[in-house]
Amino acid sequence: MSSKKSYEELKERFKKIALLGGTSSLLGWDERTYMPRGGANVRAEQLALVAGMIHEEVTDPRVGELLSELEQSDLVKDADSIDAANVREIRHWYGKKIKLPKDLVEEEKKVTTLAQGEWVTARKNNDFKAFQPWLEKIVALKLKIADAYGWEGEPYNALLDDYEPGATVKDVEATFAGLRDDLVVLLGKIKGAPKKPDVSIVERDYDVKLQRIFGEAVAGAMGYDFANGRLDITTHPFCTTIGPGDTRITTRYNPKRLNDALFGTMHEAGHGLYEMGTESEKNFGMPAGEAASLGIHESQSRMWENQVGRSKSFWKYFFPQAQRIFRDSLGDVKLDDFYGAINNVQPSYIRVEADEATYNLHILLRFELERALLTGDLKPADAASEWNSRFEKYFGIKVDCHANGCLQDVHWSAGLIGYFPTYTLGNLYSAQFFAQAKKDIPNLYDQFENGQFSPLREWLREKIHRHGGRYRATVLGKKVTGESLSHKPLIDYMTAKFGEIYGF
Ligand code: CO
Repeated sequence: MSSKKSYEELKERFKKIALLGGTSSLLGWDERTYMPRGGANVRAEQLALVAGMIHEEVTDPRVGELLSELEQSDLVKDADSIDAANVREIRHWYGKKIKLPKDLVEEEKKVTTLAQGEWVTARKNNDFKAFQPWLEKIVALKLKIADAYGWEGEPYNALLDDYEPGATVKDVEATFAGLRDDLVVLLGKIKGAPKKPDVSIVERDYDVKLQRIFGEAVAGAMGYDFANGRLDITTHPFCTTIGPGDTRITTRYNPKRLNDALFGTMHEAGHGLYEMGTESEKNFGMPAGEAASLGIHESQSRMWENQVGRSKSFWKYFFPQAQRIFRDSLGDVKLDDFYGAINNVQPSYIRVEADEATYNLHILLRFELERALLTGDLKPADAASEWNSRFEKYFGIKVDCHANGCLQDVHWSAGLIGYFPTYTLGNLYSAQFFAQAKKDIPNLYDQFENGQFSPLREWLREKIHRHGGRYRATVLGKKVTGESLSHKPLIDYMTAKFGEIYGF
């Protein structure tokens, strides 16, 4: 068979896998938005069935035959080409997935689907004991999976690679260590600063219906395309792609706080823009049509949420609109005071609502706990108390309830262990990419002031989105910025910004 034909066959197979994947995403989206509670058991079975089907397709020995053939062909001659990248990344996934027995894949899907429902209830009731048996099951399953993949150093490496291909705990740790040191210094300066923003401005009454209208207007200005997406409400906000032309986002509204849904919507819309910007139709189901890594994904959401959404230029344009919409709460407020309030730095319990400066401490905490859960140094039964004691050490505040502690995030119930470091990687990439965008695009902030966001969006599309998974994250980062990943751009950006707000 010619390599061209074999490549076509591989593409057909991966399109089918992507169709199954999109079906699973749709079932998952429905589960978290509109499914009645009573649907939980059958939904778990449906998702497990599809996961098993996907696993069978991915691990079909025919995929291995096609890969071996293509690896000998001219198709991969130029290692940088899209085709070679597709073969390289599929080989990587195939190599991992054939090590997993199908029943383990189905069991993981079933347990994590049920556990997510249990987590919602446990969080509502602030009841760690009710969640503990599920955490035990999930840690045991993830360890089984890590062992099946095989690992060096520690089991966490095997799981991290699922979300950030090629990344290792050692590399991540090296970058995080510098960040941790500089963050401590920055937070110290903020704590001792002469000026303090008045955060009460964003904690007034903000009608949920109006928040929704304003959030949709902002997402629309970013370029999130509502003809190819939609915005719904969930406990834990997310972005999911059902297939080319259908990328959905969710948010949660707090009638007493403007920040949560607004920046949450911008965050998820940033993810959405990445998904909408990949050439997913041309490379349907192929790595080149999908995200490079979750770290790169998160860099897109965080850039729109923070570098754009929490910039003064952005609000020079949007604040008069916000004042008209939320007249009672913002009518008498000055732009500078509002800008201070949305950027207020204050240690708080909930990661997704954290300010930019303390956010990464939340990730460092989870990263340490997860590694310890997998090595066995930390028992799931002790996860809540260990969380609380470390949290007090890092943030200087006592956790008041488990819903504000280890039950706040969906990840552990969803089996997403190994995922958290990608959030901090995303913050680091976002700052490094944005520093480059400012160099490449003249007067970027002036454009924001005029409500022009398409130059940035097109820059991101050109430099990052359209490549999909063609390049590994570290390679892409270097291509875009000319430098390896560093914590410096993030620290420089935050020091300048908070220095102005806090007067140090
Ligand atoms: Co995100």
